[in-house]
Amino acid sequence: MTNILRGRVLSFTRQPENADDHASYTYIEDGAILVSDGLIKAVGAFDEMLSGVEVVDHRPNLLMAGFIDTHNHFPQMQVIGSYGAQLLDWLNNYTFPAETRFVDRTHADRIAVSYFDEMLRNGTTTPVAYCSVHKASADAYFAEAERRNVRALGGKVLMDRNAPDGLLDTPQSAYDDTKALIEKWHGKGRALYAISPRFAITSTPDQMEVAQALVAENPTCYMQTHLSENHDEIAYTMSLYPEHPDYLGIYEHYGLLGPRALLGHCIHLNDRERSVMADTASVAVFCPTSNLFIGSGLFNEERTRQDGVRIAVATDIGGGTSYSMFRTMDEAYKVCQLQNQNLPPLYAFYLMTLGNAKALGLEAEIGTLEVGSEADIVVLDASATPAMALRMETVTSLAEELFVLQTLGDDRSVVETYVVGMAAKP
Ligand code: GUN
Ligand code: ZN
Repeated sequence: MTNILRGRVLSFTRQPENADDHASYTYIEDGAILVSDGLIKAVGAFDEMLSGVEVVDHRPNLLMAGFIDTHNHFPQMQVIGSYGAQLLDWLNNYTFPAETRFVDRTHADRIAVSYFDEMLRNGTTTPVAYCSVHKASADAYFAEAERRNVRALGGKVLMDRNAPDGLLDTPQSAYDDTKALIEKWHGKGRALYAISPRFAITSTPDQMEVAQALVAENPTCYMQTHLSENHDEIAYTMSLYPEHPDYLGIYEHYGLLGPRALLGHCIHLNDRERSVMADTASVAVFCPTSNLFIGSGLFNEERTRQDGVRIAVATDIGGGTSYSMFRTMDEAYKVCQLQNQNLPPLYAFYLMTLGNAKALGLEAEIGTLEVGSEADIVVLDASATPAMALRMETVTSLAEELFVLQTLGDDRSVVETYVVGMAAKP
C-alpha cells in the first residue's frame, strides 16, 4: 500500500542545544510523507510530491514520528492510582499481588489487548515493557505486538526472592525461560528482547550471575532494571549486597552495564555512580509521573545531562499515572521547575521521539521522519479541546504550540497513530 500523508511535518535531526535551537529539526508547513510498504519513502513539500497517489489530508495538524516509552510495566495497568504508599510498600501491597495474576495466560492476553490499545491511543508506537515473572506474560505481550505489527521491546522479569511465592522463579528457570523467549521473539518481525532482572532486591547473587550470562550470551538484546529510586530501597539493597561500593556497583559487578542497559529512575545517584553511568554509556530513564506519584524524588535532568549520562524518558505505568507522553513531559517540566531547571518544549519533543530512539540505538528505524525509517507516525492537534483551542488563539510559534500540547494535551490530541503506515489508533 502506498499513500501520502499531508500536514505540517516536524522531525528532529539532533538534540536541541537550547530553547531556540531551530536548527535541530526540520519543519515543513505544507508537508507530505510518502509511505509505501510500511516505510517512509520520501518527505518534502506537498506540491513537489508525486501525484497519482492517494492523499490523506491531515492539515492543519502536525505530523511527527510516533512516541517511544522506554520504561513501563505491562502487568501494572490495574495498579495505576494505588493510594498512599512509597516504593517498597507500593510493590508489596499493590503491585506484586496484581502481577501474580499473570500466571493466567487468558488474563495476560486480555491485558495485552488493552495495553497496546492505550499505547496507540496515546501516540506511543514503541513501548519498552517489563512483563511479569511468568514466561506466558511475555508471550502474551509479544504476540499482541506482532498481531498489530508494533515495534515492541520487553522481557519477563527475573526475580527469585523477596516477593510472594507466585512471583518467584529460580536462577535456572529464569535462564531457561529467558533463553527460550529470546529465541522465540528477539528479532522476530519488529520485536526486540530486554533481559530484565527486576532490581537487586528481588534477585539473589546466583540469579545476578544468570543475568550476567544472559547479557554476555545475547549482545544484541537489551538489559533493563531499576536503580536508585527511593531511599529505603537503596538502604535495603545495600544491606543485601554489602560488599559493593554502591547500588550501581552491583549491576556493574555482574556485567550488566553498557549502551543497551536501561536503568529506570536514577534519582539518588552518587558521584561514582554518575561517572560509571557515563563511562559505560548506560541510559538513565526519567519517569516523572511515577517519581512524583510514588514520592520517590526529583530526577536531576540538568546534572545528569551535564555529567554525560544518556537520558531517556518514560511513563513507568503503573507507578506512573498516565499513558500519555504529553502528560509525562508536563510532569518532567515541573520536576525540573522544582529544581530551578528548564526543560524547553523542543527538547521535550526531541526526547519523546529521536532522543528515546537514540537511547535504544534505534534511530535508523524509529524516532524520526527520515527517508528509510519505519512509518510509525502520529498526527497531533494542539486545539483538540475547547481549553486548548482557546489557548492556541494566542500562540505564535511552533515551540509554543508544542508546549501547549505538552501542558494541556492527552490522547484527545492524538488524531491518528500510524503503525508501519496503517491507521492504528483504537
Ligand atoms: N522497582 C522494582 N520494581 C519496580 C516497579 O515495578 N515499579 C517501580 N516504580 N519501581 C520498581
Ligand atoms: Zn519500573
